[in-house]
Amino acid sequence: MAQGPPLSALRKDFPILSRRIDGKRLVYLDNAATTHKPVQVLGRIEEYYRRENANVHRGMHTLSQEATDAYEGARERIARFIGARSPKEIIFTKNATEALNLAAGSLSELAVGEGEKIVSTEMEHHSNLVPWQQAARRHGARLELLEVDMRTGLLDEGTFKEKIAGAKIVSLTHSSNVLGTINPVAKIAAMARKEGAYVVVDGAQSVPHMRVDVGSLGCDMLAFSGHKMCGPTGIGVLWGKEELLERMPPFLFGGDMISEVTFSGAKWNDLPWKFEAGTPPIAQAIGLGAACDYLKKAGMGRIRAHEMRLTKLALSLLSEQGDVRVFGPADAAKKGGVVAFGMEGAHPHDIAAILDREGIAVRSGHHCAQPLTRKLGVFATSRASFYFYNTGSEVEFFARSLEKVRKVFGGRRRGA
Ligand SMILES: Cc1ncc(COP(=O)(O)O)c(C=O)c1O
Repeated sequence: MAQGPPLSALRKDFPILSRRIDGKRLVYLDNAATTHKPVQVLGRIEEYYRRENANVHRGMHTLSQEATDAYEGARERIARFIGARSPKEIIFTKNATEALNLAAGSLSELAVGEGEKIVSTEMEHHSNLVPWQQAARRHGARLELLEVDMRTGLLDEGTFKEKIAGAKIVSLTHSSNVLGTINPVAKIAAMARKEGAYVVVDGAQSVPHMRVDVGSLGCDMLAFSGHKMCGPTGIGVLWGKEELLERMPPFLFGGDMISEVTFSGAKWNDLPWKFEAGTPPIAQAIGLGAACDYLKKAGMGRIRAHEMRLTKLALSLLSEQGDVRVFGPADAAKKGGVVAFGMEGAHPHDIAAILDREGIAVRSGHHCAQPLTRKLGVFATSRASFYFYNTGSEVEFFARSLEKVRKVFGGRRRGA
């Protein structure tokens, strides 16, 4: 585990955290939606635009070579960050959504035929559900979902064997952006492999928050977004095993992804460029490389431990409030730093608006997981989500501030 200054000392790296909202200190608890950026990342992006800005791969001039070195260097950093065997396995996309669309579009073409089966889960973000629904439709295949046990907020392990049997692709989230649940990906991947199925993992809510090593997960592909891990928006990653990516057809077509073009056809470029058509998000990739360095230095083990402490505190404080219902596992060890909740007599949007008056940023809505939200029996939830720069006193202030919601709606706090 990386040693270094306490994580709270890193707050000074994030200029936005000293902002005031209507005179109140900002308490930012919307990290599952996007995270803030430290000066190290902001500085690296600025440096790129000030000193190295050029298009990559095509130029003989110095700036183009420097930009290419910085862009490809970022790929190497990111590969190391998730334990990829080679930078060739890192495909840059615009976000996790595009990465999952690439996986669903291209892998299903390779692996799924009429009447065959794709498996996902009931706790997916729309980004890892809709692309598979569409892929299944295109190939005349069916999509089956591993069920969520509503008592525990975990996937129902009893159904794994039957559902995974005969699957061609299993695609699931590592950590739910609503329930927080951390899924047993390695176990599911082992079962899927026995069936000869490919395993795709949505790491949007895990890669930023814990040590994720693709070898240990045992999956074939992993998708994540830069902006949820201290990097800029406009950059995502699809990691895939090299031998699989070699066999998959390209997803987007145009410049850079070809090796040769004639009037009647084209040959594809080598990996990873075969999947990167057009001018790539150069500054964004470089920014994400800097973000990976930053997180590595902070220590992914320490980040996970800190977020688990904050989650435990939030769960404990909310469980004392009898009119608050928390969704997802009650054990902080089984979930990421995501706490979705409802409050008797208060609409989630009103909760978020009233907390905003206290300077507290939480999200409300279906969090791009409409089917799951409906299964929870609600239209929307409020969600507080943590990162390593949050503190215990922020969590306490958030829990205490729910009293303001009660005041507005005339609710009464009951004992749990
Ligand atoms: C679990 C999960 N998957 C995928 C995504 C999509 O990420 P993006 O919007 O960056 O593509 C999100 C975003 O909230 C998410 O939480």
